[in-house]
Amino acid sequence: MTEISRRALIRTAAAVSCAKALSGCARRIDPVRDVAVGAAVDGELAVSLAAAPELERIGGAIVAHPAGSRDVYLVVNTGTGYFALNARCPHAGCEVTWVPEDREAECPCHGSRFAGDGTVLNPPATAALPRYPADLPDARGNIVVHLFAGDGVFKERVENGQVQFPIAEFPALASVGGAILGRPDGFPSPLLVTRVAATGTDAVAAVSAICSHLGCTVLPHTSPSGSILHCPCHGSEFDLTGAFIQGPAAGNPLLRFAASFDGATVTVSTQPRG
Ligand code: FES
Ligand code: FES
Repeated sequence: MTEISRRALIRTAAAVSCAKALSGCARRIDPVRDVAVGAAVDGELAVSLAAAPELERIGGAIVAHPAGSRDVYLVVNTGTGYFALNARCPHAGCEVTWVPEDREAECPCHGSRFAGDGTVLNPPATAALPRYPADLPDARGNIVVHLFAGDGVFKERVENGQVQFPIAEFPALASVGGAILGRPDGFPSPLLVTRVAATGTDAVAAVSAICSHLGCTVLPHTSPSGSILHCPCHGSEFDLTGAFIQGPAAGNPLLRFAASFDGATVTVSTQPRG
C-alpha cells in the first residue's frame, strides 16, 4: 500500500468515528511551533528566519504570534515561495497546523482540513481560512507577510499610517461627484475616495467600502439625484461622505477615514476619522 493510500485509509476511518462523536476524533498530527514576532507595521508582518529556522526548509511552517494582536498566522515554506494563513480555525478557534505531506492545514481539535489557499476540504469548519501573500526572505533574513495586500488600483502603498497620491492619477476625482474604489497595499479595508467639493482640504472624503449592513462591497453609483454609494447586496445607499441615506443598513454610516487635500495631493489615514 502506498503512503498516500495509507493516509487516505486512516482519514476515512477517522471520518467514520467522527460521524459518531465530534470531539476527540481527529487523527494525531504534530503541531507547528509558536513563534513570537513584532507587531505588524503598515499591514506588513516580519518573521525572521533567525527566530523561525523551520522556514528555511521546504514544507517547514510556524505559527507567528504578533505582539499585541489576537490574530495568529500559519507561515509556510512551499518550496517555491511562502504564504500565510490565518491560523485560527473558524469552527471553534483552535490553532491549525501544517501537514507538509498533504500540503494542507489541519485542525487538531475536530479534524477540519484546509487547502493551501485556505478553502475548506473537510468539516466541521464551514468557512475558509484567510490567506495572505508573503515575500521571499529580504536582505535581513525577514519573510514579510502582507496582511492587507493591495489590489493594484493605487500605485502607492501605506507608509507611516497613511497613503498619499496625486489626484491627477485618477481623472474620476477631477470633478465633484467622482469616486474611485480600490485597496492600497497596507490599507486595512477596501477604500472609496470621493470628490465632495471643488476646493478646500475637505474636498475629498475617504470611506470604507465595507457595507455597514452585512459587509458587502459598496460601489459608486450615479442615481437620478446625483452620485451616491450603493450596496448591490440589499440596496443600502450612502452619500459620498458615507452618511446613510436609505436601506437595511438602518442608519449606520460607512466607516470614514481622515482625509485631506492640498489642491494636488490626497492624503488618507488608516485611522478612522474621529
Ligand atoms: S476548532 Fe473544531 S475543527 Fe477546528
Ligand atoms: S450588505 Fe449592504 S445592504 Fe446588505
